[in-house]
Amino acid sequence: MIPVSEPHLAERELELVSEAVSTGWISSAGKFINAFQDRFADYHGVGHCVALSNGTAALEVALHAVGVKPGDEVIIPSFTIMSLALAVLRTGAVPRLADAHPDSWNITAEGAAKLANDKTAAIIVVHGFGQPADMDPILELAQAHGLKVIEDTAQAIGSRYKGRLCGTMGDVGSFSLYANKLITTGEGGCILTDNDDYAARARRYINLYFGLTERFAHEGLGYNFRMTNMQAAIGTAQLEQIEHMAARKREIGGWYAEALADCDTVDFQKTVGDVDHVYWMYCVVLRDHIQMDAMAAMKHLGDQGIGTRNLFKGLHAQDPLLPHLVQADREAAFPVAEHLYARGFYVPSAVTLTREDVQTVVNALKELR
Ligand SMILES: Cc1ncc(COP(=O)(O)O)c(C=O)c1O
Repeated sequence: MIPVSEPHLAERELELVSEAVSTGWISSAGKFINAFQDRFADYHGVGHCVALSNGTAALEVALHAVGVKPGDEVIIPSFTIMSLALAVLRTGAVPRLADAHPDSWNITAEGAAKLANDKTAAIIVVHGFGQPADMDPILELAQAHGLKVIEDTAQAIGSRYKGRLCGTMGDVGSFSLYANKLITTGEGGCILTDNDDYAARARRYINLYFGLTERFAHEGLGYNFRMTNMQAAIGTAQLEQIEHMAARKREIGGWYAEALADCDTVDFQKTVGDVDHVYWMYCVVLRDHIQMDAMAAMKHLGDQGIGTRNLFKGLHAQDPLLPHLVQADREAAFPVAEHLYARGFYVPSAVTLTREDVQTVVNALKELR
């Protein structure tokens, strides 16, 4: 079996996690929490990193930190994970859905501009599958309308837009550190920000808003979204390998691009703009003349021991979400998100892949009909 993804864990992760366990620092205090936060912030050149329990919580914390409140609207892509809509709903705000650009698969300033109105408080940009969104026009739009920008960088750790690391350009960067991410803590996430107030609010929200003078006189409605020192120990070790992981992903992306050059069954995800695309996952889309849909194609590969995963089903098509959408979004068309869901999937993307593995995958892709 060639797995679709697997974490790359080594002796160092075991060494640091053993230290956390043997010293008894297994909850959310301990030296690895601080080490992880400091090093993640330093790597990105940003003032604050707040480690927390997962990437879904990170989005909610980011929205809370920038001050999104009930009744606000938040613009998000339709072609993404449910976590974004859930985070917006948890703040009491209304998600507004923008379709993806057909080349970059990301939200665009033009798409967001059509949804912006006097209730809009923020935009969450997702850098999909490692391809950075076109941030400059989005930041200009946000400035013109007084909107906060959250960059969901779960899929683009290590990717750069015009030389700037993803997650450092908006008001807050939000990250998942789930096992399939470029670096992982098992479950986990974090936010990055240069804003002292946002960081302070985030730290309090993830820790039940304990009172500052009287601990059990809570000063807000917060939750327990804390990361453990054991997770942070794994993350601290993973950070030592971050450049290596990014370099491997790029190298494997190059192998796929080369091997797929003469393949007429699928298109490989494009790299769009002045970006360094880290290729978190290697995504392909079936060409129009292929009769199989994504599910049938994935089954064909699965029968040959090749792991795949389909792309996101758009949020506009998620039944539990429909009652929470405005009428205009329920009625809108999302042709790019629909196409990517019907025709796209990602192929094995672990950093441990060999060139032979890539050739095996591409040979199977060439057989699709
Ligand atoms: C873009 C994006 N945002 C948020 C999340 C949620 O992260 P988590 O699974 O850590 O809650 C994911 C998960 O893959 C993701 O891809």
